[in-house]
Amino acid sequence: MARIVLHERNRPYVVKVGDQELHLCGCGLSENKPYCDGTHMKTVDEGSKLYMYDKSGNRVEIESFYK
Ligand code: FES
Repeated sequence: MARIVLHERNRPYVVKVGDQELHLCGCGLSENKPYCDGTHMKTVDEGSKLYMYDKSGNRVEIESFYK
């Protein structure tokens, strides 16, 4: 079954585990989930627009999921 998942966050979640600080992916684009790999930097200029990203990281602006 195919799914479209919407992620609005464009930065990682920072979690402290003991003395360690983990950066967990919040954007959904990391190739190293659950950890952030810096790919969220592609999303910093999204503003209020809606985009789809392919597996190569290319993006296309879309109007809505619910037409
Ligand atoms: S938050 Fe997803 S790659 Fe950094």
